[in-house]
Amino acid sequence: MKGDYEMVIAKSIEQIAISITPLTDHIGAEVFGADLAAPMDNAIFDRIRRALSDWGVLVFRGQEWTPEGHIAFSRRFGPLEDHVLSDYCLPGHPEIFVVSNIIENGKHIGAFGGSKRYHSDLSYMHEPSLGSIFHCLECPEGEGETCFTSMFAVYDALPAERKKWLEARLGVHDYVWNFENNHIDRPPLTDEQKAKTPIVSHPAVRTHPENRRKALYVSDVFVSHFEGEDYDESRALVKELMNFASQPRFEYVHRWTPGDVIIWDNRSVLHKALPFDETNARRRMHRTTIRGDRPFLDA
Ligand code: OGA
Ligand code: MN
Repeated sequence: MKGDYEMVIAKSIEQIAISITPLTDHIGAEVFGADLAAPMDNAIFDRIRRALSDWGVLVFRGQEWTPEGHIAFSRRFGPLEDHVLSDYCLPGHPEIFVVSNIIENGKHIGAFGGSKRYHSDLSYMHEPSLGSIFHCLECPEGEGETCFTSMFAVYDALPAERKKWLEARLGVHDYVWNFENNHIDRPPLTDEQKAKTPIVSHPAVRTHPENRRKALYVSDVFVSHFEGEDYDESRALVKELMNFASQPRFEYVHRWTPGDVIIWDNRSVLHKALPFDETNARRRMHRTTIRGDRPFLDA
């Protein structure tokens, strides 16, 4: 039909016209002119992929996505993860992890109350996540922002001695340890869930596989200690590094509007949710999580 044909042309013209504008000096860029629900040719997709590696966080506004559209676009980056907390995935769509404080029929529809401290999604997996794609469906006004920090910039700003020490270390990522210490409000993990998340060590500094930059790969949430190092000293250093990373000069804070989509790079960025009135306000986000490769550090 002519009408459909015109729509296809209009969409492809729109996709050719994308432009990418940095949001801060180190982290975050906004992509204009992309309709993520429409077909997108490889050249445009490659620009988006490269911008993600370089800016760590990409913002797209006004996106209307079905769960199927969200999944289809996300798959272009790589295979998707089904989250270990399957109760919080969208019924019929295990690839979509729901992050929400909303209760329906006496049950939380998504993961709630977590993520208020800096972390990288699924860093506790043998092959941690490449990136996450977050679609905002409902959000409170003026609160409940998401905060991101560039671990490229954080690494670059560390003193030389500290860089050297960290480059020779492995961080021990422990999902069960974090869950049992920090999520006492959630139903306990089953033995099967625990079996899916054994402890794993990753380099504390990793090379980004696409642009070869070095990023600090440590978070207070999942890294219990550095392998072979004293536990209390490790915890103190991780806390110090998180304080260092929590400086506005490394950060981008996103204030949400429904329809916003953010893609973040879990290889080079940490993120956390800022607080909001969880008893009265409604916040509902859909997340896909792209599988990545095993972290490594180039000599
Ligand atoms: C996440 C997450 C932060 C937020 O979904 O992985 O950490 O702002 N979310 O909800
Ligand atoms: Mn997260």
